[in-house]
Formats: sequence, structure tokens, C-alpha cells
Amino acid sequence: TLDFALRRAGNIHWQHVDVDKAARARSKAQVPRCAWFTGLSGSGKSSIANLVEKRLHAMGHHCYILDGDNVRHGLNKDLGFTDEDRVENIRRVAEVARLMVDAGLIVLVSFISPFRAERRMARALFDVDEFIEVFVSTPLEVAEGRDVKGLYAKARAGSIPNFTGIDSPYEVPERAELVLDTVEQTPEALAQLVIDRLLE
Ligand code: PPS
Repeated sequence: TLDFALRRAGNIHWQHVDVDKAARARSKAQVPRCAWFTGLSGSGKSSIANLVEKRLHAMGHHCYILDGDNVRHGLNKDLGFTDEDRVENIRRVAEVARLMVDAGLIVLVSFISPFRAERRMARALFDVDEFIEVFVSTPLEVAEGRDVKGLYAKARAGSIPNFTGIDSPYEVPERAELVLDTVEQTPEALAQLVIDRLLE
């Protein structure tokens, strides 16, 4: 399909994280929880999740980041960006996150996860206090203005169909535990809000 061709053309990037497997394995167990980051492409989900993991790791906590760009290189490499594929993408990652929380980890899920119904489905897999929905609230103009990966420019030029915020919908969360304002606050301050909530 066109989506597969686009993935090969390099619109999915590898998201670097600072804490590696060996480092994680050296740390200790804690209250397992899932912080579910949702927001537009380029909203800052991955950067904030990475800061959260870095700090929690330094405190001795055992975390894992599930990032859309990365999971789409492996487990979900058969999926593109149609509504149907996004639904399946979120279904699988929600199940993986549940397994990881079951294994005792603090899991940071960083996917656009544009549909309310799938976020609700994900929430339903966890105990009430285990799931923290984190809306990375960055206006489209701001995310598009940053355009770190150059994807918005490509989407506007018509070379990436079904791009979130352009010709594919993003449903703003109505019941997120945390709303992060990336215009008014620094990534560091926002990461701390997530950590405080995770360790509550
Ligand atoms: S979703 O909607 O939850 O299934 O998306 P996700 O798995 O998080 O993947 C989003 C990343 O894929 C890149 N990309 C696109 N995003 C949105 N729409 C289209 N059509 C698209 N094509 C490629 C983009 O780099 C997203 O990464 P982030 O980190 O969100 O910017």
C-alpha cells in the first residue's frame, strides 16, 4: 500500500532514548504504572517521555519507553496510518504496555493515539490508579512551526496522506489526568509534573 511505501521512504524516524537496557536492568522495582502520552506529531511527547525516564532512572526506578516511531520499526511494522491501522497500532501497544506494567515496570507510552475510543480501550486494560493519560497540548500551528522532522511540510505538499492534524483527525482528550502546556512551560518542568504524578 501507499503507507508501506511511505514508511520505506523514511518518514518514520528512530527516537533516541538515553537509558539503555543494561542500565534499566541495574535499577530496582517500584510501583508499576503507565503514563500514556498523547498529542500531535511534533508536540513534544517523545522529548518529555525521555526526560521522565532519564530522571526516574537516575532515582533508581525501572522504566521503559514505548515510542510510536520505534514500535513501528518492529512489532507494528506492518501498519501504516489509515484509521484502521492506527486503531490496531494502539490496540497492540496498549496490550504490550499492560504486560510491562504486569512485569513491574513504569511504562511511558508515546504515541499520537489520536482517537478517544482507543485511549479509552487502553485505559480499560489497567487498574484505576495505574493509568495516567498525559495530553501533550501543543497547538497545530506550534507543532507545524517547529516541524522537527520536516513531515508537516511534506504533508502540506501532499506527499504524506493521512497526516494527523492535516487530513487525519486528532481528538483532544476530555479526561486526561495531566495536560501539559508546551508553549508556556519547559520540557523539564513538564517532565517533573509527570514524575510527581507517577510517584504519587
Ligand atoms: S498513531 O496515530 O498513534 O498510530 O501514530 P504513531 O504510531 O505515534 O506514529 C507517529 C509517528 O509517525 C510519523 N508519521 C506520521 N505521523 C502522523 N501521521 C502520518 N501520516 C505519519 N507518517 C509518519 C511521525 O514521525 C510520528 O512521530 P511523532 O513522534 O508523533 O512526531
